[in-house]
Amino acid sequence: MNNNLDPRDPRRYRSNYAPYGEPEIKRTYTPEEAGHDKHRKPVTRASYNARRRKRKKPNVGVIVIISLFVLVAAACIWLLLSGNNNPENIPDNDKHVPLGSEKTEDELLEEIICPDTDDPNDNKEELLPYFTVTLTEDDIHMGDLILVNSYHEYLFPEEMEKNIVKISDHNNGYYGTSAYNTAVYLSGEALNAFNKMTEDNFNDTGFKWLQVNSAYRSLEHQQQLYSDYLRDYGQDYVDKYVATPGYSEHHTGLGIDLNVNRNGSISYVESDAECGWFREKCQEYGFVLRYPDDKIHITGIDFESWHYRYVGVPHAQIMEDLNLCLEEYVDYLKTYTFDGECLSYSAETGIYQTTAEEFYKAESGIMIYYVPADAENGETEVSIPKDCEYTVSGNNVDGYIITCEK
Ligand code: DAL
Ligand code: ZN
Repeated sequence: MNNNLDPRDPRRYRSNYAPYGEPEIKRTYTPEEAGHDKHRKPVTRASYNARRRKRKKPNVGVIVIISLFVLVAAACIWLLLSGNNNPENIPDNDKHVPLGSEKTEDELLEEIICPDTDDPNDNKEELLPYFTVTLTEDDIHMGDLILVNSYHEYLFPEEMEKNIVKISDHNNGYYGTSAYNTAVYLSGEALNAFNKMTEDNFNDTGFKWLQVNSAYRSLEHQQQLYSDYLRDYGQDYVDKYVATPGYSEHHTGLGIDLNVNRNGSISYVESDAECGWFREKCQEYGFVLRYPDDKIHITGIDFESWHYRYVGVPHAQIMEDLNLCLEEYVDYLKTYTFDGECLSYSAETGIYQTTAEEFYKAESGIMIYYVPADAENGETEVSIPKDCEYTVSGNNVDGYIITCEK
């Protein structure tokens, strides 16, 4: 016993007090400590036994009340469980609301469009309104939107080379090809758009004098051209107008040099009054003037009124509306991402912003966004909305541009 303790301290009742551990001896309390009424009659063994005997007698009233309570509780639980199995209570699966979810369709959509990827239990793949494709480093260098200039070399991807077709095999009769360069080649997609445009031009105005002077160029072709111009016009000229071999947009099959040839009389597209239709409408077919005179400081190439570039729709229209050259446009697109704001365009409203969620809900529309390449892994997972047509183009710099339409 520890006699140094205050007499009121309960620890004085224990011989082996452990200050930080569970006491080994259960302490006993004085009636005062336990809060008992000091003035109550002391409990004798006889009165205690009498009270125990009394407590042992079953109380019928209490038993009845408890039984009733148990019955009512059981009935409530049964009703709740059978209610959940009622087909009318099953959420509509078309709305992609999982059973038992307390979230609204909108809340759920928000969550599945921007899933919490850290959650290992996130198994909503079936419900996702998008799927993923894996893009490689090679994909950065292919597509209609690749930027080729003195900083960004063309790598001649096999896929792109395979798409090159001979123009004369598909000429619709509404344009000509240069007499010096009868074997002119172009990317199949660009040629389809060019054919459509020249046909519409002819149908609208009767004009059929555009001439393709040069389009696809192999590395050897550009090398030959470069040394010919260097020899005939000098370094200053080639610096302004001729790309270093390997860095020419003509390698892609998406660049096309045009002028007007009216029965042997040659003029520039820019200065020919009858080319108004073409200059105004080429964006609608996916073509832009690639080296305008107000962008020389960005493109690094002097004004070329003859060089057009196929970038596809609606990109050409957006570039035209915002007066962006391809260098600027590739940068501009980097602000639009799948998880944030995406770029959109419609003929009625022009350029506007949208989100993946809005695009998913809309019946029709366009959505454009940029995905940076995962340089460390060499492969990049890209999210694509379901139920739409989409194209992927590298930017030839550091990522991909996805264009979705429905
Ligand atoms: N004339 C353009 C810049 C080229 O040579 O590719
Ligand atoms: Zn050119």
